[in-house]
Amino acid sequence: LSDTITVHRLGAGIGARIGGVRLGGDLSEGAVATVRDALLAHKVVFFRGQEHLDDDGQLAFARLLGEPTLAHPTVKGREHANVLPIDSDYGKANSWHTDVTFVDRVPAISILRAVELPPYGGNTVWANTVRAYEELPPALKALVDRLWAVHSNVYDYAGHVDSTRIGGVDVKEESYRDEFESQRYETEHPVVRVHPETGERALLLGHFVKRIVGLTNAESQSVHRLLQDRVTRLENTVRWQWADGDVAIWDNRATQHYGVADYDDARRRLHRITIAGDVPVSVDG
Ligand code: SIN
Repeated sequence: LSDTITVHRLGAGIGARIGGVRLGGDLSEGAVATVRDALLAHKVVFFRGQEHLDDDGQLAFARLLGEPTLAHPTVKGREHANVLPIDSDYGKANSWHTDVTFVDRVPAISILRAVELPPYGGNTVWANTVRAYEELPPALKALVDRLWAVHSNVYDYAGHVDSTRIGGVDVKEESYRDEFESQRYETEHPVVRVHPETGERALLLGHFVKRIVGLTNAESQSVHRLLQDRVTRLENTVRWQWADGDVAIWDNRATQHYGVADYDDARRRLHRITIAGDVPVSVDG
């Protein structure tokens, strides 16, 4: 199979579509290496036609990339201990974030599989946080290289979600949020982390950031906004329109993402598995 693998870039900034791969626990070493190389180079990779995968198949494939974590630090996997259902009935991830940054060892990789898609909308957008750092002017690089941020799972939802949803939180969402916040995490990470595999510098921010160490709340918000505007510049993003059988894999050490909530009351479900990562290392080591 590895002979026929194709990797098509989707833009200069981020993203590639990989063809000629049937994902599963039996993927050859060569194919896994090709997927891993493409992931490190393009930050997020997409696969069509993976309808054969179920949770067990997704997990068996995930094990080829590393050690799967539990579904989530606070939210229990509903059907499978390692699989987090991303289900619109329980909330929508429509704000920019990197997955689970509020723990010490931030997951390295996320694998997301389409399960039930709305008739329209519900795309996901990813941004390249390495490129965002690299494009900062030297004076800003010098500043952010020294900063640390506090990440928490108890954060200001109203300040992050699409304003059309404020007030629209229903009972299921409320109970999901209670579970999400059932144990409180507050963890400091460098704002610039050195990628453990590529050595690239990446901005480590997103909606779990509560404040920047040493700054007031207002200053933290201004600095965060300034940097997030760089991260989410359209040229620095790729947008994926989900179809049945699709799988996306992203390098959670080098990206942020946003689930676009433009599908009215339709149901949208995707299943996510995350691979364990390292404690982020600052530019000072
Ligand atoms: C996620 O945050 O992992 C899910 C993104 C999405 O809902 O598109």
